[in-house]
Amino acid sequence: MNIAIDGPAGAGKSTIAKAAAKRLGYIYVDTGAMYRAIALYIIENEIDVENEDEVAEACSAIDIQIKYEDIQQVYLNGRNVSAEIRKEAVGNMASRAAAKKPVRDRLLSLQRSIAAENDVVMDGRDIGTFVLPEAEQKYYLTASVKTRAERRYRELVEKGETPDMAQIEADIEKRDYQDMHRDIAPLKQAEDAVYIDSSDMTIDEVVEKICGVSSAEEKK
Ligand code: DC
Repeated sequence: MNIAIDGPAGAGKSTIAKAAAKRLGYIYVDTGAMYRAIALYIIENEIDVENEDEVAEACSAIDIQIKYEDIQQVYLNGRNVSAEIRKEAVGNMASRAAAKKPVRDRLLSLQRSIAAENDVVMDGRDIGTFVLPEAEQKYYLTASVKTRAERRYRELVEKGETPDMAQIEADIEKRDYQDMHRDIAPLKQAEDAVYIDSSDMTIDEVVEKICGVSSAEEKK
């Protein structure tokens, strides 16, 4: 059983997908983390992301392993990079790197093989449209730029940072544009995906829509 959740940055995909997977007993596969691992390699090795030959060479030098130790852990050439890849700069580089063919080719078989071997809730940008077109359930999860920026702002404040709201909104808009307008596997709603705008919904309401059972009912 495969559930695909696509949508723009900050729509709450990972929170929702994680909760839905837990409730259903499936594995949560965060494909953005795989792009982030490649982005981290590009940053650390000062690779020119706009130079496709350099990027292709980098991709062949990269070993990415996904392990499930309660939650997904990402290993880049043997090193657990799960925490480092959450940085803002890595996310922004991931969006740029994800437009490059060698990067997408590198990750496609990994994503498909995990889905073939397990019941998964997989989130990303092109899961319902490209990676798992045969997924039994597909969702396109989004929220307004304002809502997504506010959520990100709160997350950063909780981490002890002092974020700039205007900057967060600008980053989100830029990332949306890059992810939706690239040539290969751009972010868009699959024709057979259910559209969910989470701007005015709680996490529980969205999870309920995906799993068909509310946590309140489950507790009864
Ligand atoms: O979901 P995220 O913010 O961790 O993803 C980081 C970037 O990776 C995102 O801006 C675009 C890219 N990405 C992608 O192109 N395809 C996916 N399936 C997942 C992520």
